[in-house]
Amino acid sequence: MQIAVSSQNPLEVSSGALILPLFSGEELSGALAELDKSLDGLISDLIENDGFKAKSGEHRLVYTQSGASKRVILLGLGEKSKFSVHVLRKAAAKAVKAVKTLNKTEFAFVLPDAIEGEALAVGEGLILGAHAFDDFKSGDKFEFNSATLVTTKSEAAEAEATRAALISEANLKARYLVNLPSNLKSPDLLARKAEEIALENGLKVTVWDENKILEERMGALYGVGMGSDNKPRFIVIEYTPEGTENDAPIALVGKGMTFDSGGYSIKPAASMEDMKDDMAGAAVVLGVMSAVKSLGVKKRILGVIASAENMISSNAQRPGDIVTARNGKTIEVLNTDAEGRLILADALSWTCEQNPAQIIDFATLTGAIVIALGHEGAGLFSNDDELSGVLEAAGIATNEKLWRFPLWDDYNEAMKGPASDLKNISGERGAGSIVAAVFLREFVTENTPWAHLDIAGVSFVRSEKHLTPRGATGFGVRLILDYLSR
Ligand code: BES
Ligand code: ZN
Ligand code: ZN
Repeated sequence: MQIAVSSQNPLEVSSGALILPLFSGEELSGALAELDKSLDGLISDLIENDGFKAKSGEHRLVYTQSGASKRVILLGLGEKSKFSVHVLRKAAAKAVKAVKTLNKTEFAFVLPDAIEGEALAVGEGLILGAHAFDDFKSGDKFEFNSATLVTTKSEAAEAEATRAALISEANLKARYLVNLPSNLKSPDLLARKAEEIALENGLKVTVWDENKILEERMGALYGVGMGSDNKPRFIVIEYTPEGTENDAPIALVGKGMTFDSGGYSIKPAASMEDMKDDMAGAAVVLGVMSAVKSLGVKKRILGVIASAENMISSNAQRPGDIVTARNGKTIEVLNTDAEGRLILADALSWTCEQNPAQIIDFATLTGAIVIALGHEGAGLFSNDDELSGVLEAAGIATNEKLWRFPLWDDYNEAMKGPASDLKNISGERGAGSIVAAVFLREFVTENTPWAHLDIAGVSFVRSEKHLTPRGATGFGVRLILDYLSR
């Protein structure tokens, strides 16, 4: 969907449908008042007599001959005192679905011009709200052509609309990869996607195959991946904008399990259904890397992905196997389903060797985070208050919310192995997400600022949610692109 900006009078905008937002409990003003007048009070009538309350996201279609657009969608924004870019983003996503039902590929949206950042929020809401996971449906597919944002502040809106399009495309790229079923998605495919993104954006990319992974002493990643014919890959993608050649990079590390059956500690059928999403962390890294250049990010960034497929075969890892990670620590694999922390162990060790300024990892790591936070936010675990604070601020700005958990040293005890340095599960029921994070900390050098985002609850939804149809959400892409612009 192309997003254009216009400063025309809304009633003079000719489009397939004109979306006119309004606050609940407010006098009609501006274009709304004008339209209401030319419609003999139809809008006020809807409000006064037909139960249209203009609640956030509530909408009504009216037909008119008065303006240049025949179809007008009145879009509720709720109370003005509770208005925010999040309300607007969600409302825009609702409205775009209403336009879709009208079969109009082109429409206009009148910005309320009430707060900063409206064009960015509406642009994101429209593009993300329009997304359908229909890649595997046969037959004709509906596709939007363009949306025009109508505003009196067109200069700021132009820049925001461009940014919205780039950020949303990056999010959709992540969604696409996560939604791709595992029969079409191997570690090698992720490597090829990374190469594609690198080629398109002039980034540097390096891919290690299973032999190189072993040679490079990544015993934990190798162990997880060895049961599958789709062999593991270690992928590094680098963005070094001019003048940052000597800067320590910001490292983004992603868990890239292209399928997680649990291995010999096999998952029950229902828990396995959505395990194609176990590479959502890697998808965040790829989505972000695909947009940094066009967004003009001025920081050096290192994208790191450990990718494998957790399957069962005579070569697969057994419960009780002991592997050695790249930093020399030995791990007893008591549960082959706690594989994310194993592949990340090697990825984090390697990343620390590159002396990054900071590391942020993304992983669909634990079912326990879903119990703790549901699908509303990701778990944040960090050894650095400043990094956490900035990430939390980006979370608030994008509404990709983070909630910080403690990493008290006392939790370490649970992860010590009886016969090895570490074991990969605590063996206790409690604090599943924290002990996983504490395990990861064993592979991060002490003075490296590090944040781990457990995105297991937010990367995939089983029913439609504000900006997302059932399936992948791309959670993390908007968050980190906002973070990188701070
Ligand atoms: N990929 C799963 C975590 C997950 C759960 C992702 C739900 C998305 C939705 C991870 O590899 C896993 O299986 N974790 C285990 C760890 C346990 C064995 C300690 C879990 O959370 O059950
Ligand atoms: Zn698992
Ligand atoms: Zn997993």
